[in-house]
Amino acid sequence: MATRYRLTSVDTVLDDGSWLFTARNGRGEDVEVVLVPCEDENADSDVEAWVNRCTHENQRLSREGVGAIVRDGGIVCPKHGSIFDSCSGYCANGPAAESTLPSVDIAVENGQVYLTDEDVTYLHEGPRDDDENEDDEGPSSTSHIRF
Ligand code: FES
Repeated sequence: MATRYRLTSVDTVLDDGSWLFTARNGRGEDVEVVLVPCEDENADSDVEAWVNRCTHENQRLSREGVGAIVRDGGIVCPKHGSIFDSCSGYCANGPAAESTLPSVDIAVENGQVYLTDEDVTYLHEGPRDDDENEDDEGPSSTSHIRF
C-alpha cells in the first residue's frame, strides 16, 4: 500500500471552500495543490485535488488570503474567468476551454483527506515559500468578475 499523508479534514475543505498546500513533484519541483469540494453525487469523493495553476496562463487559481473561487461546482480562474469543473478538472469555456487541470491523487476516509500520490511529497500547508512568482497581480483592473 502506498504511503499516504493526512492533509486536512473534508469539513475544513467544505467550510473554507478550498484548502491549499505545497508539495514536491517527481521532477523535484515545488507545486501548489488545491483541494476543492466536489458536489457531484455520482463522484467518488467529496473532495478533489488539482494543481493550482490555470491551464491558460501561469495564474494561480487559489490565491493567498483569498482561496479558490468555487461557484456552482466550478473553480473560477481569477484572471480571465474560465471555469474548471471542480470534480473533473475540465474547462469548457473561456480562454482555457477544452483543457483539464492536472490532478493529484488523494483519498478520503472517515472524513479525512489523505495525499496518496506516489509522485508527490507533501511539504507544507499554504503557498510555496519562494516568491519568484509569476502571476498574482490578481485580476486585471478591467475584470468584471464579482465574487
Ligand atoms: S489565466 Fe486562467 S483563463 Fe486565462
